[in-house]
Amino acid sequence: GPALPLAGKRVVVTAGGTVERIDPVRYLANDSSGKMGAAIAAAALEAGAEVTLIHGRMSAKAPEGVEKIGVESALDMFEAVRSLWDRTDILVKAAAVADYRPARRADRKIKKHGDTLELELVKNPDIVAWAGEHKTKQYIVQFAAETHDAEENAMDKLRRKKSDLIVLNDVTVPGAGFGTDTNIVRVYDERGKAADWPLLGKDEVARRLIALVAERTAARNGA
Ligand code: PMT
Repeated sequence: GPALPLAGKRVVVTAGGTVERIDPVRYLANDSSGKMGAAIAAAALEAGAEVTLIHGRMSAKAPEGVEKIGVESALDMFEAVRSLWDRTDILVKAAAVADYRPARRADRKIKKHGDTLELELVKNPDIVAWAGEHKTKQYIVQFAAETHDAEENAMDKLRRKKSDLIVLNDVTVPGAGFGTDTNIVRVYDERGKAADWPLLGKDEVARRLIALVAERTAARNGA
């Protein structure tokens, strides 16, 4: 039969939430279940790609047949993405990455003192922005979880971080975003809206997204 659409391609998918340690027993985390990223990894595998799933904390099960790299913090995820960069054809960043981490990680459990406790946070590197700056052959898909001014913010993120596509989920809409089995997304490229899908299972969102990426990368390679 005909070759699968992503045969011979290496797809790197990030999924789940990062964990930023405060002390040995406490951390900052988020509600990402990893379902969206795991579904994308499965769809890419179905499309014939070699798939690496770099995952933070997630409750979703990683699909069989993908290479799995478990990480904890945004810095760890950054390191994993960089280590695979030269071998990456397509990067899909479905993970929810902490924008900030505690400035210091206490070696011992922080003791209770006064009525307030200040936690100083410092900015994490933006992984997808790094990828955009270091793009050679790679096709980059980022996600955007927005709560307001969604379309403007998504287009701004797409351009600023030099991605090829951005998948916008408005996380205030029921059935979309964190934790759910379904999602409602709009996809944008640098020219504007590229797709607008209704409420679908995350597996179907993933299949459609991978089909779109396959089409775009094939067109780019002149196939
Ligand atoms: O995991 P699920 O429960 O299935 O939920 C799916 C999801 C809602 C987490 C997913 O669909 C999603 O939207 N993921 C991106 C969430 C997010 O962090 O969005 P953002 O708008 O804050 O970030 C934009 C993009 O920059 C993302 O691709 C993010 O991975 C990336 N980023 C952000 C910060 C950072 N330091 N480095 C990054 O690469």
